[in-house]
Amino acid sequence: PHLGEILSLHDFETVARETMTRRGWNYYSSGADDEITMRENYNAYQRVWFRPRVLRDVTKIDYSTKILGYDSSMPVYITATALGKLGHPEGEVCLTRAAAEQGIIQMIPTLASCGFDEMVDAAAPGQVQFLQLYVNAEKSRTKKIIEHARDRGIKALFITVDAPQLGRREKDMRTKFEGNASAHQTKGGDKVQRDQGAARAISSFIDPSLNWNDVPFLRECAGDKMKLILKGVQTWEDAVLAAEFGCDGIVLSNHGGRQLDFAPSPITILPEVVAQLNARGLMYPRNKPKFEIFVDGGVRRATDVLKAIALGATAVGIGRPMIYAMSTYGTEGVSHALQILKDEFLMNMRLIGAPTLADVVPSMVDTSALPLP
Ligand code: FNR
Repeated sequence: PHLGEILSLHDFETVARETMTRRGWNYYSSGADDEITMRENYNAYQRVWFRPRVLRDVTKIDYSTKILGYDSSMPVYITATALGKLGHPEGEVCLTRAAAEQGIIQMIPTLASCGFDEMVDAAAPGQVQFLQLYVNAEKSRTKKIIEHARDRGIKALFITVDAPQLGRREKDMRTKFEGNASAHQTKGGDKVQRDQGAARAISSFIDPSLNWNDVPFLRECAGDKMKLILKGVQTWEDAVLAAEFGCDGIVLSNHGGRQLDFAPSPITILPEVVAQLNARGLMYPRNKPKFEIFVDGGVRRATDVLKAIALGATAVGIGRPMIYAMSTYGTEGVSHALQILKDEFLMNMRLIGAPTLADVVPSMVDTSALPLP
């Protein structure tokens, strides 16, 4: 369909399913084991309802915000997803350019198909980028990567902590066997095999010995020019530890349901994480946060984002919808996806009676159906 006929983030997924290579689709869309967590990430948002307020002047709506101190046109960022060229020949630079067009922040993945410098070079002047990092077993290697990132103007490091080993994504594994068989027969086989190598490399260079005692080292490498965030925290206990270890924030995330099946959905644990941090004085009011909480996984609508904001998140990361938009319509598609979200913010903030994000407070949501039974 014509891009103008794409009305929601779901539409990109539908087109992607029909038009992407099977290999690309299976890599992007798969979750771990029985995909219970992947589905729950999305479903959990349906257990949060609004308590909309009326008769507030909603002529002017402002959904802009700051993420770790940097301007963002909306409380959304593009999270790190590996292997962009499985979806689009230009790969992740499509995300870089669309982020620039729409004034939001891109988190560059360690395992991008494009080179790190290529993605930094593709950025517009002043465009803010973050870097997702898989910590290498060789610490000196990690230090070098971090120093290079700092020199190239990366503003924050997101250390992935939910992947000491790669989750089992059976849908993806099945096509690999098929891909492998055809790899020996077709000309394109060479590329298939290299991608396989990349996937395997993920589990081989990631350091499963990574532990809390490494956090001060990472903090020191990040220095005072870069923020340090742990991506993949899944309990309030680890959220408290992250704050105590001097991190600037966390992403409550289960890797889009691609790692541990039956990991809880981030929106479900967000209320207790915020409560426990507050009880320990580890969070300041939202206008002056000292420790920021992000969530990702299953976010498909601005209403999902507003629910997370109401419950204390600074912003949310969006993964699959961005790479589905990239795979189907390139840079233009990703930009359109982000514009859809902006339109949704405008409308829904009017309808809940919140002219700014500061008005999106806990009493605007009903979470009585949220906790798992
Ligand atoms: C990811 N994600 C991810 N995270 C990370 O820290 N490093 C990585 O290399 C990747 N790679 C990756 C590939 C693909 C295809 C997907 C779908 C996801 C996880 C990602 O950052 C994020 O946590 C989820 O994508 C959020 O869930 P949604 O928005 O995809 O539902």
